[in-house]
Amino acid sequence: MADSVKLLFIGDIFGKSGREITREALPLLTKLHAVDLVVANVENAAGGNGITGDIAEKLFGYGIQVMTTGNHVWDKKEALTYIKEEPRLLRPANYPSEVPGRGRFITQTKSGVRIGIVNVMGRVFMNPLDNPFTVVRSEIAQLQLEHKPDVILVDMHAEATSEKQAMGWHLDGIVTAVVGTHTHVQTADERILPKGTAYITDVGMTGPHDSIIGVDVRPALKRFLDGLPARFEPAAGPPRLNAVLITANCNDGHSTEIQRFNLSTDDINSLATTP
Ligand code: FE2
Repeated sequence: MADSVKLLFIGDIFGKSGREITREALPLLTKLHAVDLVVANVENAAGGNGITGDIAEKLFGYGIQVMTTGNHVWDKKEALTYIKEEPRLLRPANYPSEVPGRGRFITQTKSGVRIGIVNVMGRVFMNPLDNPFTVVRSEIAQLQLEHKPDVILVDMHAEATSEKQAMGWHLDGIVTAVVGTHTHVQTADERILPKGTAYITDVGMTGPHDSIIGVDVRPALKRFLDGLPARFEPAAGPPRLNAVLITANCNDGHSTEIQRFNLSTDDINSLATTP
């Protein structure tokens, strides 16, 4: 088994432009940084709402190996059946147990590193689910019992900064990384916590950034102005790819580095000429 492993986590892929910049970037980023595993939050990959089987298959084809989600996972109803057949697509583990799908997955890299991924969702300013702080510990315990992972990544899909920071401290030294998703705005607080867990409050959004969290500005702004219902569409305009690259020690499961990416298409094209 290798001594270290590199995990690339891509923040909420939003709509077609988010998928396209992911398709362009992934071969370059994985080669340049010798990435071992690519994980992405895909809950808004289908037109800005939900995920479908066809789109998930495309994203797997681009090089994403495991997908996480959140409150929008069921926006496209076919996800309810697709998720039963595709264990690499996770839903938050703290949904009731009878809900289709699972919130944890184990995979192994080519170099033999076992990687566990856990997806949970916050409860502050979100629909109430089971307690993510207790559920995440039981999911980790199950992974350890069944698979003995070398490293574990947790996607904490949540609105409140405080709840995400609390999850980071709750799991410091227990998992390799806690990455926040959902708010679509990347935070600049990436760090390694004292006991070795990489942490960022929000990885950000991979999609159109001239927008209001992904959707066209005009209807979203209008709704704030007049309070009337409005139909939201994904914004046009150039996308950006938001992600973090986590480097971890496979012997103790702790992180040694977390690097943040916020890349335009031009930035990605310039990677192609990087020696
Ligand atoms: Fe979300």
